Amino acid sequence: MALRFEVLGRFNRARAAQLTLPHFVCQTPLFMPVGTQGTIKGLTTDQLEEIGCQIILGNTYHLALRPTSELIDELGGLHKFMNWPRALLTDSGGFQMVSLLHLADITEKGVTFQSPVDGKPMLLTPEESIQIQNRIGADIIMALDDVVKTTITGPRIEEAMYRTLRWIDRCIAAHKRPYDQNLFGIVQGGLDPVLRDICVRGLVDRNLPGYAIGGLAGGEDKDSFWRVVAQCTATLPEDKPRYVMGVGYPLDIVVCSALGADMYDCVYPTRTARFGTALVPEGVLKLKHKAMAEDTRPIDPTCACMVCKNYTRAYIHSLVTKDAMGSQLLSFHNLYYMMQLSRNLHSSIVQGKFPEFVCNFLQKMFPKGD
Ligand code: GUN
Ligand code: ZN
Repeated sequence: MALRFEVLGRFNRARAAQLTLPHFVCQTPLFMPVGTQGTIKGLTTDQLEEIGCQIILGNTYHLALRPTSELIDELGGLHKFMNWPRALLTDSGGFQMVSLLHLADITEKGVTFQSPVDGKPMLLTPEESIQIQNRIGADIIMALDDVVKTTITGPRIEEAMYRTLRWIDRCIAAHKRPYDQNLFGIVQGGLDPVLRDICVRGLVDRNLPGYAIGGLAGGEDKDSFWRVVAQCTATLPEDKPRYVMGVGYPLDIVVCSALGADMYDCVYPTRTARFGTALVPEGVLKLKHKAMAEDTRPIDPTCACMVCKNYTRAYIHSLVTKDAMGSQLLSFHNLYYMMQLSRNLHSSIVQGKFPEFVCNFLQKMFPKGD
């Protein structure tokens, strides 16, 4: 195993931990920004360090198509290629193909899709996904899983869960760098507690360095989503990291952390920035709105980030959708907000003040109780 996970504090099921990875020592709970193509759009790696990002995500599927994993490997791995000295995680590619390419087809062999480059049919197998991720060289790599939307029902959910369990063994067998890359398994099983339980137990039997909870945040209601997280965290080992995939709304991160989850990733903070939306303690602030045109306050007067120290809402309003700088400044602030949220979760749990933090967070976000 190429990681160490030390729990520093707990409050009921919530934990604050130190996660030591080959390239960085991270503090959890932890939000991981998504840098699909080996970049977080609009931000330099120096800025990401300034914001306090500890680990960022890359996508196997995108990187394999361009610039290709062979080239990344030849040039010394993704850390070196993108000039990012801290930790990296790559997702296996299946989820991206299924969510981006409606033509993707899943069989026992792997995920078949049409190449967006030349339209030729291509096949991503569990072995290939791992081989590509071994070349990219991230600190954490993800197993290829069979992902289905939680909003569908029927035998397909069960088939996908059992296939995910069969594929994990092919991923483990194909993994060539267990000494410096951590392979995480992904729990599937839709909203069915019996299927989720079989999947958790199956993965735990494989004694992996960490576990992800997948297939969520895809349109199901919050109650169902949180219930699946609560069930999985109750059975996953206490001494291994737990990663809820695709989750990035601040409220979901607070709730899932209270339920014992440690890691999250989502495009939401950077994507919403590109649409002119800032994350603030009250919820969101739409910088496109007319009311911002003459507002000389910072995005969030309580935020200590470079953008809030230096720029007004009026200035950002004038840039949004007109100049790339508008989305760059908003992305900077939004990621700072997410990292500050991660730090506050960590320190409040360590200091035994988690309930106060949660009350405060909820009061600001829902001041009128609505
Ligand atoms: N990203 C968000 N959800 C998922 C999932 O279920 N599996 C994978 N591989 N990536 C995800
Ligand atoms: Zn700010």
